[in-house]
Amino acid sequence: MTTTRSSHGDLFCCSTMRTRLLHTRDDRRQASIAAAARLIRDGALVAFPTETVYGLGASVYNIRAVKNIFRVKGRPQDNPLIVHIRSLDQVWMLADSVPVMFWMLARKFMPGPLTLVVKKSAAVPEIVTAGLQTVAIRMPDHPVARSLLHHASVPIVAPSANISGRPSPTTARHVWDDMHGKIAAILDGGPCDIGLESTVLDITRTVPVILRPGGIAREQIEKVLGMRIRTARPTRKRPASPGMKYKHYAPRAEVVLFEGKRPAVLRAMKHASLRFRARGVSPGIMAEASAASMFPRRTFFSLGSSGARSAAQRLFDGFRTLDRQHVATILCQGFEEASIGSALMNRLRKAAGRTVRV
Ligand code: TXA
Ligand code: MG
Repeated sequence: MTTTRSSHGDLFCCSTMRTRLLHTRDDRRQASIAAAARLIRDGALVAFPTETVYGLGASVYNIRAVKNIFRVKGRPQDNPLIVHIRSLDQVWMLADSVPVMFWMLARKFMPGPLTLVVKKSAAVPEIVTAGLQTVAIRMPDHPVARSLLHHASVPIVAPSANISGRPSPTTARHVWDDMHGKIAAILDGGPCDIGLESTVLDITRTVPVILRPGGIAREQIEKVLGMRIRTARPTRKRPASPGMKYKHYAPRAEVVLFEGKRPAVLRAMKHASLRFRARGVSPGIMAEASAASMFPRRTFFSLGSSGARSAAQRLFDGFRTLDRQHVATILCQGFEEASIGSALMNRLRKAAGRTVRV
């Protein structure tokens, strides 16, 4: 099993590809990152950690590699990709006009989990932006991602490194489960800190619009800009961002989301769990660590003990872990919608087949 080099000199994916797992611990770190950067420059696909989720990277200028991203993910062709940069001087190559708001937000949140949508330059291939005249730019804040971008010297396009429609990967193991045999390498940087994707903000309009809530909260952006901003409403018809019309983040199991005040939510989840078990079915449970004693241990997945922050970090791992246990239903605790809680509830509502309000 080998990678294949095309007549153009590009390394590309084929069904027999052997995916390399590159560790970034201790003395292997620099060699792994340099090898990954070489693969990207050669036109291969490499998954890498960011502070939000793992990305599936390719050189922004290699059209064949970018096409491969769509192919291996099974991603709809009309869903544009985010371009990752190592420093602000790369913005000039990608953007046509850069509004003042870009620099205001970049000064505060770059590197970090904020993606800004601006008018694209002619240098960005159409396939990257799925034919749109705008481009999404982000500077990740993870030492491995930053070092990779530095070594690759080209901006790197990277969607989340999952098969389309599946929960985003927050560990190298998640990426392996979805991508082994299809991509050249995975840089293992351990679990992601934030666990949910970046905030996507469109600043091409007078009043900026949040297209996807994420790691940077709306209030933080409003504080920097000194103005109120809008949040695009999820809709399948004429969505503000192509990504909004697709079902995302869903495990195979049906998710039932419980929303309301914390004690009432946990009580309702317990009653629902008992009703399932009376019918001989064990549902998966995702709830804060302190609720563990209320449910059978085997199908309980802890969302940690730091409220929405740890729940965000553990959410996608929970979906994937319970899917591996083949539960048919997951009962999941809802959280307060402050700061990262807004992004968390956005993902949970998208994943949920049913919501119980208590
Ligand atoms: O945290 C993140 O943003 C991760 C890491 C790897 O950086 N990336 C990520 O990429 O979540 P992806 O492809 O899974 O999601 C990108 C979202 C999609 O909803 C897409 O529609 C939207 O950003 N997007 C990209 N370019 C856009 C553009 N020009 N206009 C509007 N939306 C855009
Ligand atoms: Mg994604």
